[in-house]
Amino acid sequence: MCGIFAYAGSENAVPLLIDGLRSVEYRGYDSAGISVLDSAGDIQTIKMGDHKASLENLGDAVESSGLSGQVGIGHTRWATHGEVNQQNSHPHSSSDGMVSIAHNGIIENFIELKDQLRGTGIDFKSETDSEVLAHLVGNSVSNGSSLREAVIFAANQIKGNTAVVAISAEEPGVIVGLRVGNAGGIVVGRNDDAAVMASDTIALLPYTSEVVYLEPSEVVEISKANVALFDLENNQIHRDTVVTGQNFEAAQKGNHPYFMAKEIAEQPGAVQGAMRGRTDFAAGTVSLPEFSLTAKQIEKIDRVVLTGMGSSLHAAMFGASIIESLARIPASAENSSELRYRNPAIGSTTLVVAVTQSGETADTLAAMEHARNAGAPQAVVLELEGSQATRVADFTFPVRAGQEIGVASTKTMIASMTTLLQMAVVLAESRGVIGSIQVRTIVEGLTELPALIGTTLGLNGRLESLSGRLAEFNDLLYLGRGTQLSIALEGALKMKELAYIHAEGYPAGEMKHGVNALLGPEMATVVAAPQNSLYEKMLSNISEVKARGGEVAAIVTEGDTTIERVADHVIFVPECPELLQPFVTLVPMQILAYQTALNLGRDPDKPRNLAKTVTVE
Ligand code: AGP
Repeated sequence: MCGIFAYAGSENAVPLLIDGLRSVEYRGYDSAGISVLDSAGDIQTIKMGDHKASLENLGDAVESSGLSGQVGIGHTRWATHGEVNQQNSHPHSSSDGMVSIAHNGIIENFIELKDQLRGTGIDFKSETDSEVLAHLVGNSVSNGSSLREAVIFAANQIKGNTAVVAISAEEPGVIVGLRVGNAGGIVVGRNDDAAVMASDTIALLPYTSEVVYLEPSEVVEISKANVALFDLENNQIHRDTVVTGQNFEAAQKGNHPYFMAKEIAEQPGAVQGAMRGRTDFAAGTVSLPEFSLTAKQIEKIDRVVLTGMGSSLHAAMFGASIIESLARIPASAENSSELRYRNPAIGSTTLVVAVTQSGETADTLAAMEHARNAGAPQAVVLELEGSQATRVADFTFPVRAGQEIGVASTKTMIASMTTLLQMAVVLAESRGVIGSIQVRTIVEGLTELPALIGTTLGLNGRLESLSGRLAEFNDLLYLGRGTQLSIALEGALKMKELAYIHAEGYPAGEMKHGVNALLGPEMATVVAAPQNSLYEKMLSNISEVKARGGEVAAIVTEGDTTIERVADHVIFVPECPELLQPFVTLVPMQILAYQTALNLGRDPDKPRNLAKTVTVE
């Protein structure tokens, strides 16, 4: 959840730490801080704990401080333990000031460790769990251990998933990093002038594209001239670097006011990326080179379980629905945080498909590990290659949307849906449920998909005024049926996440079973009702809402004059095959939430209390 960046090199680390933190700030923006070894050999720490302005204020503060040094660590925080303030900001120092650490994750036994450390006379300055690490490492260093030995000692004391970087005034040129479990990765890189490490590859790209990812239970020691990996018994490990495909330029905002606006606009390209090398438009075929199951193995699959969290869960719901209807394999989607703890009956004939933008979501990784232990063949659909999920899964399907910086998932969700649709086609064809003619028809539809999304982006002049109206409500209801249910749920999630308006997503058929009691002028309803097999049902639902005095905004197929007469507001999406309709109804849901957030003066890239990558449960 938090962002880490560390630098050991020949230049002044201070501005470079601030730049590095900018790249990982999306992981948490409750506070920001750096610790640097100054020319006198002392560790100097400057930190800010004032929510979203932290990194900006930190930049100003370090500039006016004149601080410089060639080795340092930095952190942006997403608060888990202790409120957002300066004391709780990272880095944290040992009592003698000789060690400084920055931490991402949760130390589950921190109360016990804190009591023990207090018993030895240590005075804690913060309410965080992280500070115990500073004291554990600091104590070992003051007893004569090297920084690496001290970090390994601390790693063996703590429980939970953690990523840490540490510096010591006793070893001026060295930074040690640690990864325990799945609290987000640590990635390391080096060029001729510096070695760097961070919680995200993107922060390393200005230095190198050759990187090494730490596995769980590994330690790395970097200095300007060296990078060395160790296990928790202090044995050296050798691992080759990998060349990352991530592109720094692509992650910049360009001329868009927010990353979210850029990422919404990039969706035609994102679906194209997800089809590259998989859908052959000329031949009318779909294949998944990453899916090395034989036709016989595919035939043996008797169930598909898709899993993910948040928007990725909604993409998984869409995937389950399409897989079941196209390939005729029973398929369901389940929230990973439930799946991991309920001892599900998953086995060697269950295909598990995890969906995750980051590949680092703690609950999704735990559900994946459960599936692996159960012997299930497992695929992951994800954006961030090289992340932990790729190492747990048997088959990795990169969605190739391009790095997403906005906390709200947009282009990665649509690209995940595109990938899952292709998976459904491959499973269906392999099992003989559909033939090449039906595949060709689906491919003809897919050929149009980027343009359909592009048209949808351009169609919605009405969204601005509608979002102004939605901003006046405290409660919103989102309704859909079939594959549109996942889109209604996503619309409600986006509205909560970005505009902080209470929004409920519901299957429209559930209304009469309780939800109707809420209807009235105080609550507006957003309905996904394109022309499809469930259109008439949705029309009845809209009428029911209207009959009870509710205001309705309906997302409908262009030219639909029937709903236009009944609903208060209509948003037109282009006509397309039912299979592709969720792609075009998703886009206005995203734009509505984005515009409503702006109307209410919220920052859509940095919604409160959230972070892009959720590496704690
Ligand atoms: C969506 O807008 C969210 N920010 C969130 O629900 C996200 O989809 C969820 O945390 C899952 O993350 P992942 O895709 O990286 O696993």
